[in-house]
Amino acid sequence: MSTKKLAIIGGTGLTQLNQLTNVQSEQVDTPFGIAHVQTGKLQNNDIVFLARHGHPHKLAPHKVNYRANIWALKQLNVTDIIAVNAVGGITKKMQAGVLCVPDQIIDYTYGREHTFFDGTDETYPLKHIDFTYPYTQSLRQLMLDHSNNVLDFSVYGATQGPRLESISEINKLEKDGCDIVGMTGMPEAALAREIDLNYACLSLIVNPAAGKSAELITMEQIYQVLNDGMQTVCGILEQTAIA
Ligand code: HPA
Repeated sequence: MSTKKLAIIGGTGLTQLNQLTNVQSEQVDTPFGIAHVQTGKLQNNDIVFLARHGHPHKLAPHKVNYRANIWALKQLNVTDIIAVNAVGGITKKMQAGVLCVPDQIIDYTYGREHTFFDGTDETYPLKHIDFTYPYTQSLRQLMLDHSNNVLDFSVYGATQGPRLESISEINKLEKDGCDIVGMTGMPEAALAREIDLNYACLSLIVNPAAGKSAELITMEQIYQVLNDGMQTVCGILEQTAIA
């Protein structure tokens, strides 16, 4: 019997998984705070769902307790995490409505609790993880194999938020090699690696990043794309979960 157990972390536009059955809400106590999850089944598979911003959505990206969330998933015997993110598109192929599975990330966030192992507590001694490939390749591939028209290979620029960026900030990110920009990619990915959880992202481009279209960015525009795109996202999650 497989010991694989999948968690899905939902971001903006995905605060609950409608296909989940036998749903139970749980509050998980961790050394880093409390996490709120739902457990349930996707077809016959046990799944944990975690709404990163809460349900309803109320936590700003820099206020999310990433450490409690990731630790709670470990406590629930999760082995694999698929994280869903709404992002802005920087490079040409990253148009609104496009989905991608990033393979690299650049962290521009600051002031977030970003490690379990900073050495201040002897229970969690200092640890330097390898982060050459920040996402688990086999999990990325599983999503790509169970979807159509999802782009492989992209660099995620993780910004602090909650504001969106200026044109010059986006130009800098583009020069750095970022294809997409979002606010929740870090420290989530690194925390998962710190405690040996497989982790990959499915990112939905919901707007052209600042300066990448003639118009200003509006929440109306973002929510329009989110509503349509999350249907596709849920299909991919289901196919990947039962694979
Ligand atoms: N920038 C940062 N985060 C985002 C964006 C953006 O343009 N769109 C959705 N999340």
